[in-house]
Amino acid sequence: MNVTLKIFRFDPQKDKEPYYQTYEVDADPMDRLLDCLNRVRWEQDPTLSFRMSCGHGVCGSDGMRINGICGLACQKLVKEFKEEILVEPMPVFKVVKDLVVDLEPFLEKYNSIKPYLITKTSPPDHERKQSPEEQHVFETAVRCILCACCTASCPVNQNQETASYVGPAALVRAFRYLFDSRDEASGERIALLDRKDGVWGCQTLWKCTQVCPKEIPVTKQIGQIKKRIYDSKHSKT
Ligand code: SF4
Ligand code: FES
Repeated sequence: MNVTLKIFRFDPQKDKEPYYQTYEVDADPMDRLLDCLNRVRWEQDPTLSFRMSCGHGVCGSDGMRINGICGLACQKLVKEFKEEILVEPMPVFKVVKDLVVDLEPFLEKYNSIKPYLITKTSPPDHERKQSPEEQHVFETAVRCILCACCTASCPVNQNQETASYVGPAALVRAFRYLFDSRDEASGERIALLDRKDGVWGCQTLWKCTQVCPKEIPVTKQIGQIKKRIYDSKHSKT
């Protein structure tokens, strides 16, 4: 089948304004959008820039906006698209070149929630044990590959006035540690999250859940953090 790709192009070093460039690619219906982008770069235009690595939904590096919806190019089969495919960089982030965006602010927010296990007690002789039931509580959050599709799709992050909101991806990771039975820093974590631009920045708009390529119940996990904070305050009074 013939696939038409209309791709956002912008090289800040030489272009005054972004523009769109159209490419025609001969593809098998079972090819992924990523295969088509690679074919464009290898066979037609080596100047086209985009990120990719694993090609199999594991590394999270090929997040982009495809026909207006953020997703991974390696998870989209071309047969799913009827006409021209519009390919753009993820919104919210500054464009570095073409489909490559600057994820530094995203990673800063992610790091702000302390994305690692914190323990206060002395380590046991062997590993810190956890039952399968305890692990099951946060199991889905572990699937996150930091593709940033959720944060890029969040209307709160897209709004300049509320862009300081920490965003859904960071909150999924916060959930992962707040609900980990081995973690011993829930007070510290709650203090970090209990802010207007922390978990309360979420307006429960569900866009993050709709686009997550790992099918993580993002909005539900954010809601569980809110409830945990509410309960922690309620139990003190
Ligand atoms: Fe990507 Fe889902 Fe993780 Fe958000 S929660 S960064 S959409 S994998
Ligand atoms: Fe790794 Fe798509 S290339 S997730």
